[in-house]
Amino acid sequence: MNPVDATRTEAWKGLAALAKQFSPNFRERFASDPGRAARFTFTAGDLRVDLSKDYIDEEILAALVKLAKEVHVAQRRDAMFAGEHINVTEDRAVLHTALRRPATDHLVVDGQDVVADVHAVLARIYAFADKVRSGEWTGVTGKPLTTIVNIGIGGSDLGPVMAYEALKPYVKPGVECRFISNIDPTDVGEKLKGVDPESVLFIVASKTFTTLETITNAKACRSWFFEALAAKGIPADGAVAKHFIAVSTNLEKVAEFGIDPANAFGFWNWVGGRYSVDSAVGTSLAIAIGPKNFADFLAGFHTIDQHFVQTAPEKNVPLIMGMLNVLYTNFFGAATHAVLPYSQYLHRFPAYLQQLTMESNGKRVRWDGTPVTTTTGEVFWGEPGTNGQHAFYQLIHQGTQLIPADFIAFANPTYPLKDGGQDQHELFLGNFFAQTKALAFGKTAEEVRAEGTREEIVSARVFPGNKPTTSIMAPALTPSVLGQLIALYEHITFTEGVVWGIDSFDQWGVELGKQMAVALTPAIAGDRDALAAQDPSTRALIDYYHAHRK
Ligand code: F6P
Repeated sequence: MNPVDATRTEAWKGLAALAKQFSPNFRERFASDPGRAARFTFTAGDLRVDLSKDYIDEEILAALVKLAKEVHVAQRRDAMFAGEHINVTEDRAVLHTALRRPATDHLVVDGQDVVADVHAVLARIYAFADKVRSGEWTGVTGKPLTTIVNIGIGGSDLGPVMAYEALKPYVKPGVECRFISNIDPTDVGEKLKGVDPESVLFIVASKTFTTLETITNAKACRSWFFEALAAKGIPADGAVAKHFIAVSTNLEKVAEFGIDPANAFGFWNWVGGRYSVDSAVGTSLAIAIGPKNFADFLAGFHTIDQHFVQTAPEKNVPLIMGMLNVLYTNFFGAATHAVLPYSQYLHRFPAYLQQLTMESNGKRVRWDGTPVTTTTGEVFWGEPGTNGQHAFYQLIHQGTQLIPADFIAFANPTYPLKDGGQDQHELFLGNFFAQTKALAFGKTAEEVRAEGTREEIVSARVFPGNKPTTSIMAPALTPSVLGQLIALYEHITFTEGVVWGIDSFDQWGVELGKQMAVALTPAIAGDRDALAAQDPSTRALIDYYHAHRK
C-alpha cells in the first residue's frame, strides 16, 4: 500500500479552510451550545474522553474523519492487526496488539499462530513470577528474591519502570523493583546501593541483546554480584542461574552472555521496543504485581484495541485524538503536545510517551522512501499536575505558543486523606478541573479591572483562554486502566503516522550516534591518530576531557 499524500486530498483542503476561519471562542461556544460538552465527550473502555475544549466542531470532526478515510487509516489499521509487514524498512509485521489477545483467539502470521506463541510465553512468565513471589524460587543461599533489578534501556526500560511506578499499590509488599538503564556508571552504582546479593534477581531485558548500554550494565552487575557474594564468603557456583534471567528475541546472544536459555523469556521481532511493555519485557512488572494483575493490564490494552477496530470513526477515540493532533500540528502550528497526569503514580508516563510518540513519528521520509509532505512528529512532554502548574503552566496559559494538552485524572484516590474533613483528593481534582477551565475560558481585561487591579498591570494579568485541552478521566488507576491508557496513545501515534505516511515502527534515527559513540572510544582512550582524525570541535572536547580527568 503506497502512502497517500494527505496534503493533496480533498479533506486536507477542506480542513485548511475550516482551520483558517475557526475561532475557538470557547466562552461563546459553550454559552450558545449547552449540548457541546456531551456531544464531544466519548467513551473508550473505562476512559471518558472530553474533547469539548478542543478545536473541534461538527464540520471539523467530519473533515477529520474524511481525511482519515482518504489516507486509509482503517485499511492500514486492519493490515497491522492482521500481521502484514507494515514496518517496511525492516520488513516486519507489527503485532503488539497480538500480545494482549485472549488465549481463545488465533492469528496465523508467516505460518505461525502468534497468539498461541504469546500465551505459551505468558504461561512461563506467570509460573516464574508465582515462584519468585511465593519464595519457591530462591537465591543461591536459599533466600527468597525480593529485589528485582531490571537492566534495559529505551523500550526495555521505560515501559516497565513507568508501569511499576503507576501500579505501586498493586506491588506485593516486600518486593522492590529497581531499574538500571543509563550507561553512565552512576546508574549502576546508585541502584545497587544497599542491595543484598543473596536476595536480588537481575533481569537483563533487551530485544536485540546487543545494546551497548544494557550489555555493559549487565556485565557490571554480574561483576558486582560476584564480588558481593565473595565479600560474604558465598561461592559463586550456580549463582548466575539463580539470580540472572533474560528477556530477549535473541536467545543465542543470551546464551553467549552466560544466562541459561531455560531462564530466558522470548518475544518476537514483530514487537517494537517501545511497544513491548506488554510482552516478556514486562516480566519485572509481572513479578511485582502478580500474574492476575498483569493479565488485567493486558486485558485493558485489548479493550482499547477492540474499540479502535470496531468503533465507527466518528466515535473512535484514538482515531479522533490522532486526527486532532494532526490538526494542531499541521493547521495551527503546534510544535509540542503536553501530557499532564493528575496522578503522582503516572509521573513517568510522559517520559514513556516520549519514546512511543517521538521514536515512532519523528521521521522525514515516508514508508515508500519519499520525503514527507508536511510537518510531522510533535514533541511530547509533561509532568504530573500539580507540580507542572508551579513550573511551566505559565507558558501554556500566557505564552505565545499553542500547546495542546491532555489532562488525565481518576475519580478515586489510593490514599483517601482527610485533614479536618477536607478530602485531599478533592483539592487535587479541583486543580485538574480548574486548569482546563482557565485554559479554555481565560480571564478578560474587564474581569481583571473589576478586581481593582492597577491599569499598568492589567494586561499582564489577562488570560487569553481558548487554549485547547483534552480531559481524560477514569474511575481509578487500575492495571486495566493503565493498559487502556497506553493502548490509547499507541493508536493515536499510529493514526498520526498513517496521515503523514510514516513507518511508525522503525527507528533508524538512533543508529548514527550509536555507531559514532563506539567508533570514538579509541580517541577517548588516548589514541593520537584517532584523535587527530576528529573534527576540530570534537577533538577540543576530547582534549578537555583528557586535561581534566583525574
Ligand atoms: O533507541 C533505539 C532502540 O532500538 C529502541 O527502539 C529500543 O527500545 C532500545 O534501543 C533498546 O533496544 P533493545 O531492547 O534491543 O536493547
